[in-house]
Amino acid sequence: MADLKITVRANGPYRLEGPFTIVDGEENEFTLPEGQWVSLCRCGNSDNKPFCDGAHRNKTPAFEAETKAT
Ligand code: FES
Repeated sequence: MADLKITVRANGPYRLEGPFTIVDGEENEFTLPEGQWVSLCRCGNSDNKPFCDGAHRNKTPAFEAETKAT
C-alpha cells in the first residue's frame, strides 16, 4: 500500500493522494483509496470545506501562498 502524498499547489489547495481517511468534527469518515486524490481548501473561501471548490481562483485580492514545505 502506498503512503498518503500531500502536494502544496501554487496559490491553491493541498492535494492529497490516497489511500487515506479524513475524519470531520462529527466523526464522519471520508475515505479515499489508493490512486485517487482530493484537494483541501487553504484559502478559506470554499463553500464545501474542507474540500476546495475552486473559489481560490476568484478571490480578490488574489489568493497567494507559499509552496515550500520548510
Ligand atoms: S483553496 Fe480552493 S477554494 Fe480554497
